[in-house]
Amino acid sequence: MRSKPLRRLIPETVRYDRARLIKMLNRYAMVYVKPETGTHGKGVMRVAQDGRNYRYQLGKQPRVFRSYGDLANDLAKRVKGRRYLIQRGIHLLKHNGRAFDLRVMAQLNPSKKWETTGIIGRVAAPRKIVTNYHDGGTLVQARRLLSGHMGKSATSSTIRRLEGVGVLAGQAMRNRYSGITEIGVDIGLDRSLTPWIIEVNTSPDPYIFRKLPDPSVFRKIRRYQQAYGRK
Ligand SMILES: Nc1ncnc2c1ncn2[C@@H]1O[C@H](COP(=O)(O)OP(=O)(O)OP(=O)(O)O)[C@@H](O)[C@H]1O
Ligand SMILES: [Mg+2]
Repeated sequence: MRSKPLRRLIPETVRYDRARLIKMLNRYAMVYVKPETGTHGKGVMRVAQDGRNYRYQLGKQPRVFRSYGDLANDLAKRVKGRRYLIQRGIHLLKHNGRAFDLRVMAQLNPSKKWETTGIIGRVAAPRKIVTNYHDGGTLVQARRLLSGHMGKSATSSTIRRLEGVGVLAGQAMRNRYSGITEIGVDIGLDRSLTPWIIEVNTSPDPYIFRKLPDPSVFRKIRRYQQAYGRK
């Protein structure tokens, strides 16, 4: 949030509580409620207001409520005293009817400069609201996903822009946490092709990049990790 160019790309995110949820729903109509310290998309919920009804989805199961009170009571059982966040929901672009986002890997390179070393697309399993590979998501080349929504040259410039966001996010994170040498940024594009930073992971999984046809991407990621002593 302290980085001016990045701030605009971060969807409004607040700590979960009952009163803030209704405010955020009034503002955005669709929000994500997720554990503050989650992994693999576990516990991530999509909450929406449509007309007079409220609904949320966890896993593949949508639930509908007739009032905000009913929704909030049900959510309270799931949240149960743990810390959750509420984040403006992004209407992610789709590929064959499934939502996708992109994982951008940025690393401090051996000459101590931030470099984006890999980008890979993650497509949600049918009817799921998370794209995580460990939650049934499929890994697909970013270029392939983007080219379904824009021409060739726009695809290339979007990829360059995402690479730039990776570098800025790496610098911003290291400014604040000096031990950081790599990050994985989850970036979603909405229907107007605006990129949004959904989260930044500080111990990103390098192995998803083995799924890319070009083996040099994974090789470089590992080489950089080893340069900083990551096993
Ligand atoms: N605000 C949002 N708008 C749209 N989709 C979202 C939003 N927040 C999360 N998602 C979807 O849910 C997925 C998982 O959410 P997120 O990356 O925040 O948590 P996580 O991967 O479970 O956590 P962590 O990586 O910290 O273990 C995202 O990759 C994205 O597909
Ligand atoms: Mg994530």
